[in-house]
Amino acid sequence: MKKILCDSYEEICRVAADFYTRQLGDKPDSILGLATGGTMIGLYEELVRRYQEGKIDFSKARSFNLDEYYPIKKSHPQSYDSYMRENLFDKVNFLKTSLPDGEAADPIAECSRYDEELESAGGIDLMLLGIGVNGHIGFNEPAKTYHLGTNLVGLTESTLVANSRFFGPGERQPDQALTMGIGSIFASNKILLLISGTSKGQIAGRLFEGNLHTDVPACLLLLHPDVTIIIDREADGG
Ligand code: PGA
Repeated sequence: MKKILCDSYEEICRVAADFYTRQLGDKPDSILGLATGGTMIGLYEELVRRYQEGKIDFSKARSFNLDEYYPIKKSHPQSYDSYMRENLFDKVNFLKTSLPDGEAADPIAECSRYDEELESAGGIDLMLLGIGVNGHIGFNEPAKTYHLGTNLVGLTESTLVANSRFFGPGERQPDQALTMGIGSIFASNKILLLISGTSKGQIAGRLFEGNLHTDVPACLLLLHPDVTIIIDREADGG
C-alpha cells in the first residue's frame, strides 16, 4: 500500500487527476470504477478542467459506479445517477457509463445484472474509493460477513447521519443501497483511495495501524497488491 501525503484537499485532487491522465494515456479504453461523495467533487472538477483543456480524453473509456441508493429515481437530485451526470458525465465524453439501477423493480436481480455487465466489460482497471467515517468502502458497511458481488445493503446509522447533509429538511433519505461487493473492488487492477479532512482522521489512523481490523472494511485493502492512498494532512493527523 502506497501513501501520498498532500498539503491540501486541492493537492489531493490534482494528484488523483494525474492518475487518470496517466491511466487514459496508457490505456485509452480503460474501465474506470467511480465513486461519489463530497471527497470526489474536487477531483471531478479537475478532470472536467483537464478535459476542457484537451489534456484528457474519455472517448474510449467506460465507467462503473460503486453504488446507488435504493430505491431512488434517477432524476432525484440526491441519486448518484444525478450526482455523476452533474459533476462528470454531462461534462466529459465517456464512451459508456454504468451505475446500479436504483429504480429496478427487483433489487436482487439488479445486483446480478450489474455484476454480469461488469464481468463482460472485463473488470476494472482503476477503482476510485472514498472512505466512510465508519470505514466503509462503497456502501460495504462494517459487518461480520462481506459480500463479494453487488448486493443490497441497509445503511448504518453513522452513514445515514454523515450523508444526511445532502438531503433537505423533510426530504426522504433512502436507508438502503445497491453496492459493488468487496470481490468486485478487489478484482480491480489498481485502487485509488482518497481521504480528506479531520472527520476521517480517526478511521485513517486505524487503517494505517496496518492490522486487519475486520470491523473496518477499508482494512481489507491492506491485502490488495496495488492500492494508493492519497490523503491530506488534516486526515493524516488521526
Ligand atoms: P464523503 O463520502 O466523500 O462524502 O466523505 C465518502 C464515503 O462515504 O465513501
